Amino acid sequence: MSHAAIASLLLEQPPNHSLRQAFYTDPAIYEREMERIFLKSWHYAGHISRIPNKGDYFLYELDFESVIIVNAGDGRINALINVCRHRGSRICAEPCGNERLLVCPYHGWTYELSGVLRGAGHTGGDFDKSKYGLKQAHARVFHGMIFINFDREPIAFDLIAADMDEPLRPYRLAEAKIAHRQNYPIAANWKLAVENYCECYHCVPSHPEYSIAHGRAIPNEVMKPALKEIMDRAESCGLTRIFVTKEWKASGAVGVDRAYDRYVLYKGHVTGSRDGRPVAPLLGDIRGYDGGTTDMHIGPFTFFLAYCDHIVVYRFTPRDVDHCDCEITWLVRGDAEEGKDYKVEDLIWLWDVTTIADKRIIENNATGVKSRFYEPGPYTKMEDFARRFIDYYLDAMK
Ligand code: FES
Ligand code: FE
Repeated sequence: MSHAAIASLLLEQPPNHSLRQAFYTDPAIYEREMERIFLKSWHYAGHISRIPNKGDYFLYELDFESVIIVNAGDGRINALINVCRHRGSRICAEPCGNERLLVCPYHGWTYELSGVLRGAGHTGGDFDKSKYGLKQAHARVFHGMIFINFDREPIAFDLIAADMDEPLRPYRLAEAKIAHRQNYPIAANWKLAVENYCECYHCVPSHPEYSIAHGRAIPNEVMKPALKEIMDRAESCGLTRIFVTKEWKASGAVGVDRAYDRYVLYKGHVTGSRDGRPVAPLLGDIRGYDGGTTDMHIGPFTFFLAYCDHIVVYRFTPRDVDHCDCEITWLVRGDAEEGKDYKVEDLIWLWDVTTIADKRIIENNATGVKSRFYEPGPYTKMEDFARRFIDYYLDAMK
C-alpha cells in the first residue's frame, strides 16, 4: 500500500468506530506502525530480578528486533542490539543466560558487556574496533522494571517517572520477585489485543471469573460511595490517593501515556483471587487491604493490575501483522516463599483463566475482521478507553 493510499485510508476512517480492515491486515500499515509507534515508545522489557549478577542477560524481542538486556556489572543495565557488527548474525541465541563476554557464534567477534568490540580476528592493523561496537537501545530502570526505547532521541522517560513515581512507591517493586511468568501467543493483529484489554464491555459475557472478583458489573450508585470509602481507607493502608490520567496523546509525545486509577473490588474481595482472599503477603509498605485495586499503564503496551498482595504485569508485543504476544508477569513481595507464603496456582488463577478467554475472543475477532463483509462498527460508552486508544493510534499514524 502506497503512502497516498494510507493517507486516504486515514481520511476515510469513520470516527468512534473500530478500524477499517486494512489497519488490521496490511503489511505496509504494520511497517508504518513500527516506525511511528513501536520504535518510538517505551517498552517494558522485564523485571530487574531476572539479571541480578554481572553478565546475566535476557533477550527482549519485538517483530524482527532482538535486544540483549544485560547487567554490565558497573551498575548499568545495557540494551544491546543483538546483531553482530561484522555481517549481522544474532549473537545470543538463548533467551537468557550469563556471559563474561558476548561472542558471535559465526566468526567469533567478541564484545564486552558494554557493547564495545574487544576482539575481531584477522582484521588487520588499521582496523578501528571503536567504530564497531554493538548498537544500543535506551534502557531505563524504573521501580525495578526495565524499560527500553529504540529511538535515537526518545521522548524523556522522566515525563512518565514524574507522575508515576509516587503512586508506585508503596509497592516497592524494585524489591519484588517474579512468582510466575507466562506468554500467551495470540494469532491476531496487536491492536485487536490492546483494544480488547482496554475495554470491559466484553467482561460480563466473556469473563465470569473476573466479573465476580472485580465487580465491573456493580451499578454506579453502589460504586461511587464504595470508591469514596476505599479512597479514605487507601491512605491508612499506605497507598496514595493520587490519580494519574495522562494517556493516549500521540502528538509530540508518542508512547509516554501513563495512568494510575484505583477502583472498587467486589464486596468481600480484597484481591484478585478465586475466593477474594489474599494469595500472597502484602507488598512493600502496604499495611492493609482497602478493598480496592489499581489499573495502571506505562506506554501503549504495558498494563498493570496492582493488588495489595501482588501485581500482574501485562505486556503486548507485536510479532508480525497477524500475530502478537501477551506476556504476563506475576510479582510478589521479594521475601515471599513459594509453597509457604503463596501458591503459584492460586496466585495466577484469575488472570490465567481470563487471558485464555481473551486469547479466544481476540483470535475470533481477528478472523471476523478479515471477512469481505466486515466494516467498522461503533464503540459503545463502555468502550471509551479502547476508542481513545484508537484515536491515539490514528493520530500517531497521520
Ligand atoms: Fe558475527 Fe561474523 S557475523 S563474527
Ligand atoms: Fe478480557
